Amino acid sequence: MYKRYLITSALPYANGPVHIGHLAGVYIPADIYSRYLRLKGCEVVFIGGSDEHGVPITIKARRLGVSPQDVVDKYHNLMKDSFQRLGITFDIYSRTTSAIHHETASAFFKKLYDDGKFIEQTSEQFYDDEAQQFLADRYIVGVCPKCGFERAYGDQCESCGGALSPNELINPKSTISGSAPVLRETLHWYLPLDRYQDFLENWILNGHREWKTNVYGQCKSWLDQGLQPRAVSRDLFWGVPVPLEGAEGKVLYVWFDAPIGYISNTKELLPDTWERWWKDPETKLVHFIGKDNIVFHCIVFPAMLKAHGDFILPDNVPANEFLNLEGKKISTTENWAVWLHEYLDELPGKEDVLRYVLCANAPETKDNDFTWKDFQTRNNSELVAILGNFVNRAMVLTQKYFSGKVPAINGLTDYDREVIAEIPVIGKEFENSIETFKFREALKKAMDLSRLGNKYLADTEPWKIAGTDMNRVSTILNISLQICANLSIILEPFLPFSMKKLRAMLNIDAVATEWDKFGNVNLLAEGHQLAAPSLLFEKIGDETIETQINKLEVTKRSNASTVSDTVPQKETVQFDDFEKTDIRIVTVVAAERVPKTDKLLKLTVDTGIDTRTIVSGIAEYYKPEDITGKQVCVLINLAPRKIKGIESQGMILMAKDSSGKMCTLQPSEAMDNGSVIS
Ligand code: 2FM
Ligand code: ZN
Repeated sequence: MYKRYLITSALPYANGPVHIGHLAGVYIPADIYSRYLRLKGCEVVFIGGSDEHGVPITIKARRLGVSPQDVVDKYHNLMKDSFQRLGITFDIYSRTTSAIHHETASAFFKKLYDDGKFIEQTSEQFYDDEAQQFLADRYIVGVCPKCGFERAYGDQCESCGGALSPNELINPKSTISGSAPVLRETLHWYLPLDRYQDFLENWILNGHREWKTNVYGQCKSWLDQGLQPRAVSRDLFWGVPVPLEGAEGKVLYVWFDAPIGYISNTKELLPDTWERWWKDPETKLVHFIGKDNIVFHCIVFPAMLKAHGDFILPDNVPANEFLNLEGKKISTTENWAVWLHEYLDELPGKEDVLRYVLCANAPETKDNDFTWKDFQTRNNSELVAILGNFVNRAMVLTQKYFSGKVPAINGLTDYDREVIAEIPVIGKEFENSIETFKFREALKKAMDLSRLGNKYLADTEPWKIAGTDMNRVSTILNISLQICANLSIILEPFLPFSMKKLRAMLNIDAVATEWDKFGNVNLLAEGHQLAAPSLLFEKIGDETIETQINKLEVTKRSNASTVSDTVPQKETVQFDDFEKTDIRIVTVVAAERVPKTDKLLKLTVDTGIDTRTIVSGIAEYYKPEDITGKQVCVLINLAPRKIKGIESQGMILMAKDSSGKMCTLQPSEAMDNGSVIS
């Protein structure tokens, strides 16, 4: 067994909060593994951080009208805080917008460039002439050639799920300006993965047959298809700038810079010794990721590291499959998720229950499903009924018969010896499971120890012989308490909050619970004073579960209503009828509330023809100061009418969605007042 481990967990994109799918797939197994290795006395560094570049972050920022930095600041802080609250023991949780990361990623690229490891190639990419920028695939929408969906993205159609490239779209439009994009030549740098094909085949297919079947299989399939050069730069304004002259407006592709984030974060944590972790072959590098990241961690990043030449390669990449929620794929956009920060607020003190359920049900070999009913059952029938019940009985009986002092062993029966002998056997099997990344199996083995303890108490029934044979009661409780002490070691990686509580009840500190002590039945000395017992876990009632299920039901209904509440199309009109309307761009030059009303604003607008008054029912959505200075669309030839005694000369056009929310319509860029909408 190696002594030094560098453990990384995928850097989550900072454009949304953490959900249970992320936790079950990546962060809980990585934390269990790190905690276990620390318990074993290994040197461990556990790296986390936010992935803050990439096109989706820029799209979200544009949609919200804020900067990409605002978006990543918000989610980086939220994720960092909620990981910490769940007890994920990162040694550092940093971010890819940090200066040290930009320097590190830049230098990495530069070395590969100087060493001639890239190929340079021009290609034709879509360009938005109006916005004067190249368009990432996601910034182009058009009609899907496969299913006819009108707003398919340049990389994928969200309706039929088909993968697309932007030039396949019918009638493509830029989402930035709405104009039709044109093809333009652009220069990019490519990592010629084909040159690493032989090395990767040998290293993975021959050298790492022990990798999980799902990981090995995916690698084999990529390698069998034959690797192609991959662009490592993009035309974008958000990211690590390409550090070459003449490369203005180009950044490193997010999947080039993100894994380098593991190196940057190690450097930030250990400025003087980071190289020991990345360059010494004695260090074992283990990447925890989800299945969608396999190609980047097993093929692209190792090829980058190999091209660089100074770094070690991953020893293992124990990727997990996906977790579904109540039978449906978790979806951030559809809000179909259990968000970690909300869970922590709504079920306080139940951090370990979530850790337990997500590990017991982890998608290690296939996609799995999280249901709130299963969550309740695992809590009530496993944590409460098996683990909690055993510990509580051992503690309470010791309190009752021996004033909370560990009683003596007064001779052992064959059955006692059998039970004692079983503990190190469980330990060995547990070690084997956890060291081969079978965390579900390891947790089950650890829980087998509390099953063993429960059965031992049920079989020996010390409460029945307390009046007649206190010597025997004393032995039974001593053994039971030693099992409790062993539990506090073996379950520590899984249930750290509860095991801290258990150690406090047993009045022992963490030093006494190192892994090499596991299996012994002399962890608690005779006469050692225990603290007062309290419950480790509490039953979760139906109301709590129903509240969570109802919350998901509301999400489901509101997702469904978005489609079914769409207002049906009105009857056909002739063009002549439409021509009668005169809709113009105007600027709101002043606004004030109409006294004694909640909904009305009196607006003074410059129509380019005149300055006039319009009364509009938008006070619920806009404060006077928010709308003043804005350009909006107005039907200017609507017959004037009096509202609350004020003559209104036109109507502001508003969009209304299925939830009733309303907003004004604005030109995508400033226009002269009076511009005609046709
Ligand atoms: O899939 C994701 O969420 C990526 N942000 C993971 C990046 S892992 C690493 F390369 F940083
Ligand atoms: Zn489609």
